[in-house]
Amino acid sequence: MKETTKILHSIPVDALTGAISTPIYQTSTYVQEAPGVHKGYDYARSNNPTRKVLEDLIATLEGGSNGYAFGSGLAAIDAVVKLLEYGDEIVAVDDIYGGAFRLFTHIYQKFGISVKYVDTTDVANVAEAISAKTKLIWLESPTNPTLKISDIQVIGKLAKAHNVLLCVDNTFASPAAQKPIALGADIVIHSATKYLAGHSDLIAGLVVTRTEALGEKIKFIQNASGAILAPFDSWLTIRGIETLSLRVKQHSENAQKIAEFLLTQDIVNQVYYPGLSQHKNHEIAKQQQKYFGGVVTFDLKIDDKELATKLVSSTKYFKLAESLGGVKSLICLPCEMTHKSIPREIRYQSGVTDSLIRLSVGLEDVEDLIADLQEVFQAVSEKVSITI
Ligand SMILES: Cc1ncc(COP(=O)(O)O)c(C=O)c1O
Repeated sequence: MKETTKILHSIPVDALTGAISTPIYQTSTYVQEAPGVHKGYDYARSNNPTRKVLEDLIATLEGGSNGYAFGSGLAAIDAVVKLLEYGDEIVAVDDIYGGAFRLFTHIYQKFGISVKYVDTTDVANVAEAISAKTKLIWLESPTNPTLKISDIQVIGKLAKAHNVLLCVDNTFASPAAQKPIALGADIVIHSATKYLAGHSDLIAGLVVTRTEALGEKIKFIQNASGAILAPFDSWLTIRGIETLSLRVKQHSENAQKIAEFLLTQDIVNQVYYPGLSQHKNHEIAKQQQKYFGGVVTFDLKIDDKELATKLVSSTKYFKLAESLGGVKSLICLPCEMTHKSIPREIRYQSGVTDSLIRLSVGLEDVEDLIADLQEVFQAVSEKVSITI
C-alpha cells in the first residue's frame, strides 16, 4: 500500500455507526458501569476518542510509535522540555522560532534549564556544543524564517552517540515532505496550526515519539499539565491531514516559481528557498525532503524596516498576517511580528534582518501571486528610485 492510501485508510470508520467521518466526541466525562469499570475512557483531559484518532494518525504519518495532541505548537514544545530536569542543557538551532526562544529563555531558564544556540547547519558546531549536561538537541529544518537546513541523519547519529535526545520541529516541511524519525530523531513536534490543519482556522500542536517508552512520558506530561487539544479542533486537524500531501505538493510548486521570480528582482537582496540550487544546504534538502515547502523568504537591497513595512502592507493577495501553511497566501515582517521577542543582535546573527520578509505561499494561481509582488516591487522601487 502506498503512503496516501495508508494515511487515508488509517483513519478508522466509526465502529458504532459506520460514519466515515470521525465523530466529534464533545464530552468532558464518560459514564462508568462501576467505579473504574469503563470503555477505556474516564475523563476527557486524559482521553478523548476524536483526539485519539488524530494522535494515532500523526504517529502513523511520522512513522513513530505514539502521537499526542496539544492546544498549540508551543504547548507541544513545552511538553517536550518538561522531559528535562533542573541543570539539564539544550543545544538548539540558532535560527529558532521566536516563541520557542521565548519559552526556553523566559520560562525554562529560571527553572535551571539552559540553552546553547548554535548554527546546526554545520554539524561540527553541534558536536562542540554538546556537554555532559546536554540532554536534548533541538532542530528546526527548514528553520523559521531563513529556511536553513540541518542534516538530521548526521545529527541523529551524534545525538545517539552522546545519549542525547533529538527533537525535530517538523512544522515547515510537514510529514508529507520529511520524516525526521526515519532519519534518526527521537521526537517530532508540530505546530499543526500550519500545514497539517492547513486552512488557517485553528491553533494546535502535536508530539510524536520514536518509542513507546518516550510516548508514555509525554502522555503523562500531557495529562498532568493539561494542555490538550479540543475535540472539534482535533477533527478539523484530521480533516486537514486528509489533503496534506496534495496541498504540500502544490504549495511547493508555487513557492519554487516565486523563489525563481524573486531572484530576478533588483529590489531583492537575498532569496532563501531550499529548492533553489543556490541555497547553501540545497543538497541536504534534496536528500531529506520530498518537497521543499511553501515558505519563501527574502530581504531587500536597502535593509530598511520602513521600506519593508511599506512593502508587506501593500500586497493584495499576500495578506499581512502571522502564521503560515494555510491555503491563502500570507506575508510577514519577522522582525516586527514573529521574531519581535528575539534581541536585534541575535536576530542579525541568524540572518533575520530588518528588511527580511517571509512569504507563506498559498494555493492561489501562482501567476496572480507573482503579479501581486511585481506590482508592489514596482511601486516601492519608484519611491526609492531603484530601477527594475
Ligand atoms: C516552527 C514553529 N514551531 C512552533 C510554532 C508554535 O506553534 P503555535 O503557534 O501553534 O503555538 C510555530 C509558530 O509559528 C512555528 O513557526
